[in-house]
Amino acid sequence: TAIPLRERNIILIGFMGAGKTTIGQLVAKKLYRDFIDVDAEIERRQGMSIPEIFAQKGEAYFRKVEREIIIDLCTKTRLKILSLGGGAYLQEEVRRACLAHGIVFFLDLSWDQWKEERLPLIVDSRPVLKNKTLEEVEQLFFQRQSAYALHHSRVVLNELEAEQAAQQIVESIK
Ligand code: S3P
Repeated sequence: TAIPLRERNIILIGFMGAGKTTIGQLVAKKLYRDFIDVDAEIERRQGMSIPEIFAQKGEAYFRKVEREIIIDLCTKTRLKILSLGGGAYLQEEVRRACLAHGIVFFLDLSWDQWKEERLPLIVDSRPVLKNKTLEEVEQLFFQRQSAYALHHSRVVLNELEAEQAAQQIVESIK
């Protein structure tokens, strides 16, 4: 049976380093709810860091675990704030579970701003960015935009502080 709208998990998607975790924590605090960072949950359940999973088991294995954990969280938890890793929403089954059981927000940041402000902060910690040229990263960014933009609310971050973005999400679900 369908989860009532008021009890659904709020799910944040968007590119790496867009601010999903920071904003998710703020939304959780404002709503007095629990926050779950899916990447941290994957690391906890696997007992390995994400770069270790990529290096030792490969990306396909990571995507399978990621998909299973998200589907599990979507179907078994309520009233949570979830932030998804930037590649998760590319998987059709993940999209389906999120849209069926949660309320999805796409945190959207422009390429120029992302490249200047976020890329330098995360370039060494994300295996997906490893050994890619800037041009290849740009391609990935725009390829993913089209999956993120499928059927849900968009929060344009460019001019917003994390606090304001969180407030916007909280108000839009009232
Ligand atoms: C990935 C994004 C990361 C993490 C993994 C793969 C991706 O999460 O899941 O490194 O493919 O975009 P963040 O979006 O939190 O950086």
